[in-house]
Amino acid sequence: TGLVTLDYGYLNTGSTKSAITYVNGEKGILRYRGYSIEDLAEKATFPETAWLLIYGELPNQEQLSHFRTLLTENALLHENLLHFFREMPPGAHPMGILSSVVNAVGLFTPRFYDDENIASAFELTTAGLISKIRTIAAFAYKASIGEPFVYPEAERSYCSNFLNMMFSSKTRPYHPDPIMEKALNTLLIVHADHEQNCSTSTVRMVGSSQANLYASICAGICALWGPLHGGANQAVLETLLRIQQSGMTIEQVMAKAKDKNDPFRLSGFGHRVYKSYDPRAKVLKKLMYQVFEREHVHDPLLDVAIKLEEAALKDDYFVERKLYPNVDFYSGILYRAMGIPTNMLTVMFAIGRLPGWIAHWKEMHDDPQSKINRPRQIYTGKTERAWIDRDKR
Ligand code: CMC
Repeated sequence: TGLVTLDYGYLNTGSTKSAITYVNGEKGILRYRGYSIEDLAEKATFPETAWLLIYGELPNQEQLSHFRTLLTENALLHENLLHFFREMPPGAHPMGILSSVVNAVGLFTPRFYDDENIASAFELTTAGLISKIRTIAAFAYKASIGEPFVYPEAERSYCSNFLNMMFSSKTRPYHPDPIMEKALNTLLIVHADHEQNCSTSTVRMVGSSQANLYASICAGICALWGPLHGGANQAVLETLLRIQQSGMTIEQVMAKAKDKNDPFRLSGFGHRVYKSYDPRAKVLKKLMYQVFEREHVHDPLLDVAIKLEEAALKDDYFVERKLYPNVDFYSGILYRAMGIPTNMLTVMFAIGRLPGWIAHWKEMHDDPQSKINRPRQIYTGKTERAWIDRDKR
């Protein structure tokens, strides 16, 4: 084992070359295929961003309309899959449902690398996944509140379709709200990729064994679920609610976050790569103020969040460790304003991150240098021992 270099958590180990996303953690820069996150958040649509990430260029009119058609035509789930939603225990976490159904969708779809025309089959498979993930998320929510499913509609945009499937019912029609739809579009874009994070590396790890795309994405969703990763957005909202409802002070929460004997961490703060303000958090903070002002929303959790941020930014512990708000800090408050329940927040992250996962899976498969991922270890167990018979133990 003398040749093995130990790097817990891969702080300094590059697992691949990649041309998809550029992150500069010191300066707080994020670009997808060279385009700044600020420009994309303001000007792009989520399907356009998905195309950019997966295929490397912004789609032209023809490509975009072709992609839109594929998204529309592939939004439905096979009816046999509906059992997954109806027969899960009440209170089942929607991330568990999402990962299971995504894997199951693969069972209803021929594996694209068996197909004669690999490029068009890949296009169909990925558009199908990007479209269906929204249907799965909305159906999981509807099942959890005991309401009938609302099916996707051809004439709606990506975001409008999702909000309609989530919130309309026979007695309570969904009225399109362009401000909320635009906000959702931006949220999905800022989540769309972030180079070799835990879930993306998982997708690459699983995909490196040549497991199919559905299985690889299913694994990525499971990795995202954890509170140190995508699950942080749910944890942020729970912390804010706890402060608001229990009367816990900001000082008490800060003290708890800094106490090394307490496993509690201030979710929504800190990042492995960003040692400055996360540019995605900046975009979302600005968006939140715009949405709240235009929609006349007042959420007391926002006041709590602002105070918490102010306290953290001037606290020695946070300053020394360069712990700034990350993408998860403000996303939950925005989703709350849309009516998305707290346990669905990580699902929203997964919908946004899906194009990034697919782009990395494709990049790995297209790279002639890629190999099955197989890290080494440093063995710390016993040296060779003699067998002990059962009656002598
Ligand atoms: N609250 C309190 N202390 C923290 C926090 C936090 N949120 N984040 C890091 N620290 C401390 C940590 O205890 C350590 O202190 P010390 O040097 O005294 O041991 C130091 O800061 C460095 O932390 P680390 O855990 O070694 O850093 P990491 O790069 O391994 O972890 C992180 C990065 C994001 C997992 C971590 O900052 C964290 O747990 N944050 C809270 C969870 C969170 O918001 N996750 C979302 C990340 S962004 C979106 C995504 O990836 O999904």
